Amino acid sequence: MKILVTGGAGFIGSNFIRYILARYRRDSIVNLDKLTYSGNLESLRDVEKDRRYAFVKGDVGDARKVRKILSAGFDAVVHFAAETHVDRSILDGMAFVQTNVLGTQCLMNAAREAGIKRFVLVSTDEVYGSARAGEKFTEESTLAPNSPYAASKAGADLLARAHFRTFRFPVIITRCTNNYGPFQYPEKFIPLMLTRAAEGQSIPVYGDGMQVRDWIWVKDHCAGLDAALRKGREGEIYNFGAGNEWPNLDIARHLLRLLKKPESLLTFVQDRPGHDRRYALDSSKAHRELGWEPATSLEEGLKLTVQWYASNPDWVRGMHSKGYRAYFREHYDRRDATLAKALSHGGKK
Ligand code: NAD
Ligand code: DAU
Repeated sequence: MKILVTGGAGFIGSNFIRYILARYRRDSIVNLDKLTYSGNLESLRDVEKDRRYAFVKGDVGDARKVRKILSAGFDAVVHFAAETHVDRSILDGMAFVQTNVLGTQCLMNAAREAGIKRFVLVSTDEVYGSARAGEKFTEESTLAPNSPYAASKAGADLLARAHFRTFRFPVIITRCTNNYGPFQYPEKFIPLMLTRAAEGQSIPVYGDGMQVRDWIWVKDHCAGLDAALRKGREGEIYNFGAGNEWPNLDIARHLLRLLKKPESLLTFVQDRPGHDRRYALDSSKAHRELGWEPATSLEEGLKLTVQWYASNPDWVRGMHSKGYRAYFREHYDRRDATLAKALSHGGKK
């Protein structure tokens, strides 16, 4: 297959490119990425000289550019490119609507014009909103996104569905739970903990820390996307979950134990507004139709992740220089100010 990957310089995209090039000798990939704060070509150093791989810097919302790229002829598009950090979407949602909604529409227009035969939209479990205790979302569950990020992803997801219904556009939608593993930008919970704890800095735990996420090893997600790309039915949606439902506090404590760092680093801070309490998916359709199963246990994956971050200080430093520090300062200063105000009024955090 000749595949156009968008957002391939990000966390999951870079892992996906590496996965495909290693697995399929005859596949080739063009990676279209705008290189925002979370995109980093250092994440692809090991494949950049591979003749089957090429990089193009660009925005999925640039109609002329995407049309031109797609006119070269591709068998498939796998669309990762997005603004992805929930907390940033709470500070300012504009870029989220711009890239996640308008960018996806723009890319689908161009893909339709180019007669693309397969288009995988990498959506997210966050489109379902928060799950009640015992509840698991199926692909038929109602969409009820709670953050501007999740709403923008739901917008893209629904546009993709509409393109299938209206134009028979050959789209396959995937909705995965929380990924972790190598090359994840250190604003997300697990790499944030690893990079801060390594320097003896405090680890912010939102609210009571009892929010539950279902953590999936990134390569297991890549395997699911590959299966959806090759075996998925057009117009269908596939959930990818790993059945690893852990409260954030348990994840944090487990990582501190692996790092041999004290629990006193945990700092409870004001909760994220609109914070989803729990994510949980029923992935039986992907098991049944795609023959996909996650293969990595959470304990094993966390161990590998700890090792990876410890062994790649240059990559982490590079990411910090891309604006993470400034964002962290602004975000947490604001959070601390709000918290201080609440406490001075006798409020509880
Ligand atoms: P990421 O933030 O690490 O990477 C996003 C990439 O998209 C970056 O390389 C960035 O430069 C690029 N990008 C952003 N705007 C762009 C634009 N306008 N044009 C071209 N490129 C642009 O994100 P990630 O965690 O790798 O997530 C990838 C996809 O997977 C996203 O669509 C996200 O919604 C989805 N997803 C993520 C998770 C998760 O746990 N991380 C789970 C389910 C689904
Ligand atoms: O579920 C899939 C989604 O997972 C993806 O679609 C998103 O792109 C991805 O960012 C992720 O969203 P979350 O909001 O779940 O991920 P995040 O890493 O920001 O937070 C994970 C949990 O940890 C969440 O309950 C909030 C909490 N948290 C996060 C940070 C950054 C903290 O307690 N402290 C923190 O500092």
